[in-house]
Amino acid sequence: MKILVTGGAGFIGSNFILYWMKNHPQDDVINFDALTYAGNLKNLSSIENHSRYRFIQGDITDSDVVTQAIQGVETVVHFAAESHVDRSILGPAIFTKTNILGTQVLLDAALAAGVKRFHHVSTDEVFGALELKSKDKFDEQTPYDPRSPYAASKAASDHLVRAYFHTYGLPVTITNCSNNYGPFQYPEKLISLAITNILEGKKIPVYGDGLYVRDWLYVEDHCRAIDLVLSQAQPGETYCVGGLTEDISNRDVIKLILKDMGKADSMMEPVKDRPGHDRRYAMDWSKIHRELGWKPSHDFETYLKQTIEWYRQEKAWWQPIKSGEYQNYYRAQYAK
Ligand code: NAD
Ligand code: TYD
Repeated sequence: MKILVTGGAGFIGSNFILYWMKNHPQDDVINFDALTYAGNLKNLSSIENHSRYRFIQGDITDSDVVTQAIQGVETVVHFAAESHVDRSILGPAIFTKTNILGTQVLLDAALAAGVKRFHHVSTDEVFGALELKSKDKFDEQTPYDPRSPYAASKAASDHLVRAYFHTYGLPVTITNCSNNYGPFQYPEKLISLAITNILEGKKIPVYGDGLYVRDWLYVEDHCRAIDLVLSQAQPGETYCVGGLTEDISNRDVIKLILKDMGKADSMMEPVKDRPGHDRRYAMDWSKIHRELGWKPSHDFETYLKQTIEWYRQEKAWWQPIKSGEYQNYYRAQYAK
């Protein structure tokens, strides 16, 4: 089978390609990625010369390039997106263009090429925010209520994907997953930023009171969930995918990192809060467990430690990132 992965040079996309090459040795993988600030071919250096792997640099909003790349493809797994909430607050326009228009261009091309499956990778952030004290969780029936430009653009893309299923019969599936962590995560997200800041001797910026809650999913568990959805789910289906954490606050995540790295809690630095900051996310992944037999297998404490170790060993991966354009972003985002 020929599989086209969009955004395959990003965090989850590159983990997915490495996973797929290992677990599907008969398949050809095309990585279609624009190489924005978040794309990094070093993530894939271990397979770059593999005969079953090909990289195409292209933008998903460019229908000519997309149309060419998709010829002969059976399965599309669509990761390409602008993915960081804080950047969407600083500049929403590119989120609308890439996440909404880009998805629609891909859907058109997939339809014209007659692909057998279009899998769309989405987020729990489309559902909005849960109350801190409640026991509620997001599931496949939760109404959409996106609250950041990033979440709104992902919600719009989900709606388009479903519209192509209902209107044109494109065989789509969607996963809405929680916050991923693991190797190759661009150091702008909480866990990768916290670990690399500590390795640089810098403090960790904590937004507001730090009592915000996320559901943390190890990236390999996410890749396995998508694999199962591709092989077993019916077109038109959506699955919520989450991790093994139970209401852990950002402060507690950071404390675990600091403890493992032998640093004091005073390395946390309260900074101004994110506007419209969603208080709590929690995922009910019982549908994918019930129907496809998936459950997360990587517990948070063990794999957080492994992730810390990865960033410790792979300074050559993240240090060049943090010394480039990143500095401008960091100054703009964390200015007092
Ligand atoms: P990322 O920012 O690390 O990577 C995004 C990739 O997309 C990069 O390689 C980038 O170069 C590429 N890209 C961006 N614009 C493009 C364009 N116009 N054309 C082609 N390629 C383009 O993102 P990630 O964290 O790996 O997230 C991947 C997907 O998973 C996204 O759709 C995101 O919304 C979703 N998701 C992420 C998380 C998370 O915790 N990281 C959680 C839920 C859902
Ligand atoms: P993030 O990794 O940006 O993911 P998302 O906003 O998509 O869930 O942020 C995770 C949580 O950590 C969120 O509540 C915001 C908070 N946060 C900080 O407190 N400090 C930071 O420097 C960052 C990047 C995030």
